[in-house]
Amino acid sequence: MLEIRDSTALITGGGGGIGLCLAEYWVGNGGKVLLVDVAQQFLENAQEHLHQWRQNIRTIVCDVTNESDCAKMADYAIREFGAINLVAPFAGIIRDAMMVSPDGATGKVTRKMSLEQFQSVIDINLTGVFLTVRECAERMINNNCAGLICLISSTGSLGTAGQLNYSSSKAAMSVFPKVLTAEFFRRGLAGKIRCVAVAPGYVGTSMVRKIPPAALDKILEQVPIGRLIEPSEVASLVGELYRNESLAGDVYYIHGGLRLGSRG
Ligand SMILES: NC(=O)c1ccc[n+]([C@@H]2O[C@H](COP(=O)([O-])OP(=O)(O)OC[C@H]3O[C@@H](n4cnc5c(N)ncnc54)[C@H](O)[C@@H]3O)[C@@H](O)[C@H]2O)c1
Repeated sequence: MLEIRDSTALITGGGGGIGLCLAEYWVGNGGKVLLVDVAQQFLENAQEHLHQWRQNIRTIVCDVTNESDCAKMADYAIREFGAINLVAPFAGIIRDAMMVSPDGATGKVTRKMSLEQFQSVIDINLTGVFLTVRECAERMINNNCAGLICLISSTGSLGTAGQLNYSSSKAAMSVFPKVLTAEFFRRGLAGKIRCVAVAPGYVGTSMVRKIPPAALDKILEQVPIGRLIEPSEVASLVGELYRNESLAGDVYYIHGGLRLGSRG
């Protein structure tokens, strides 16, 4: 079993939502955290929120789509804390739209998901994760760190209408653990660095609370436990995945029994 106490977590998207909640869980269990976000203001709010653990927290502004930002972020974690033990690349966005939307009256397509709408989600949710994980894994290996790379997929990876961009990016997150675990295995590293993904259903963060109340009620009708997942419940799952060194190469769902797949 790995111990969280004195270990270092690097969390992107750490300025809010699930990332911030994971940071609180980590420092609350005696760990250290580098909080990473593109929004300086979010990082300041997060620092304020985690004030009582300030000596165990560092922050850095980084756009995960930028290669040199990602290298600097990983270097900073090593410089400040001497190790990276948990990599949680949780920065992510949604930009929902149907791929093509015909007009009700004419039957002709009047709206389309734009290239920018598609690409921006792929850039942050997929390429940003690749860069974060690559830069962190390099430093973990070079500094002889043991730990976990914990990606965040989603039940949307199984296909949600209106989320071709997001679902595609999150489907990729469910294959990363398999590929990376196989690569670490080939290189004799798999006993030391594991890779998994968590796949939440609907979690009560600003990303989901933006959904209009009527639509959210409809969603919750499909959730047997009858409520949103708490960010702290996702954080606790990540903690367990970190501690338990037999867990590797797979995706762990946390969705309250959600009836999976697009409802059409
Ligand atoms: N909320 C949910 O229901 C849910 C479900 C499944 C998966 N997820 C995933 O969990 C992760 C966190 O989601 P959340 O609900 O906490 O969202 P959130 O919007 O509360 O937090 C996301 C954070 O990412 C940051 N970010 C955005 N673009 C960035 C960039 N280019 N570089 C660095 N940081 C950037 C934002 O500033 C924000 O602080 C996302 O990857 C999301 O897809 C969320």
